[in-house]
Amino acid sequence: MVDLTTTYLGLKLKNPLVASSSPLTEKVENVKRMEEAGVSAIVMYSLFEEQIIHESLELDYFLNQGTESFAESLTYFPNMGRYTLAPDKYIERLERTKKAVSIPVLGSLNGVSTGGWTSYARKIQDAGADGLELNMYYLPTDIDMTSDLLEQTYLRLVSDIRSTVKIPLAVKLAPYFTALPNFAKRLADAGVDGLVLFNRFYQPDMDLENLEVVPNLVLSSSNDLRLPLRWIAILYGKVKADLALTSGVHTAEDALKALMAGANVAMTTSAILKSGMQAVPSILKGMEEWMVAHEYESVTQMRGSMSQGAVADPAAFERANYMKVLNSFNPEFV
Ligand SMILES: Cc1cc2nc3c(=O)[nH]c(=O)nc-3n(C[C@H](O)[C@H](O)[C@H](O)COP(=O)(O)O)c2cc1C
Repeated sequence: MVDLTTTYLGLKLKNPLVASSSPLTEKVENVKRMEEAGVSAIVMYSLFEEQIIHESLELDYFLNQGTESFAESLTYFPNMGRYTLAPDKYIERLERTKKAVSIPVLGSLNGVSTGGWTSYARKIQDAGADGLELNMYYLPTDIDMTSDLLEQTYLRLVSDIRSTVKIPLAVKLAPYFTALPNFAKRLADAGVDGLVLFNRFYQPDMDLENLEVVPNLVLSSSNDLRLPLRWIAILYGKVKADLALTSGVHTAEDALKALMAGANVAMTTSAILKSGMQAVPSILKGMEEWMVAHEYESVTQMRGSMSQGAVADPAAFERANYMKVLNSFNPEFV
């Protein structure tokens, strides 16, 4: 038998496969099914800053009937669609989920600005969450916003939440940072226990007939693994934070690559959405079989074995690989 146990955010997990934040973790029943299928922890779907502010604006409206402020402010907020669950319902759902399963349950907050809404971090802690994942999803479209200013904004939010809760804190990031290793280091210095790499940016499409921008959510494939894989391999051993890989974990091989790059856990959502709960035992069984066949005894033994820790100059290594890849391509029609 191989030892699949791992640690993440100070939690001891029975294996490295974690269900990431998605509508799959919305219903307690589904979380129970995921636990039975074998995931070692789950991240709840996100509670959005906009949801919390929206609710407090509604309260304002009732307190100041007759003012125009409510209607005007509402125009800035999206139609919440499925994310209509009132913030307090989220907390109640978290409490129920926590009682229903024995695997660790992490809460998820999604926002970018500091302010009153961050008090929900404490409510998530008080509801019994084993940790909190903070998803900082923001597209800097303002031409005057510099990368430094954006990073400062994120770091302020992280410090704010870090001083609010004692439970482990992970931050889920987008891949588009000019100098990711330095930012990752500063996040760890600000008290972040884990980095979740990467958030998938849902890129909208255009409908030419109706001249509309249309949201378009495409589930991932194993090809999406490469971006987080590379960065986890680069960051492993360099930042004082655990690493979780999210995006593109569909097979046992994907999860094994994540661990070898240096991840503590491999997170998955699209695989379950595409293939159902059986994706989980299939990945776990495949991992065990591969480890036995290749004489690995434990996840700990494998972890980081293919990271860039042993590479003296990772930037030069990356450029060399870049040239190698370009050279390896021989188009027949040229
Ligand atoms: C339908 C759907 C809803 C999602 N909702 C959230 C969310 O509320 N919060 C969050 O942090 N990530 C959310 N995600 C992102 C996933 O947690 C995950 O990071 C992403 O799908 C990449 O992993 P995958 O390749 O395994 O799907 C969502 C993904 C999908 C497909």
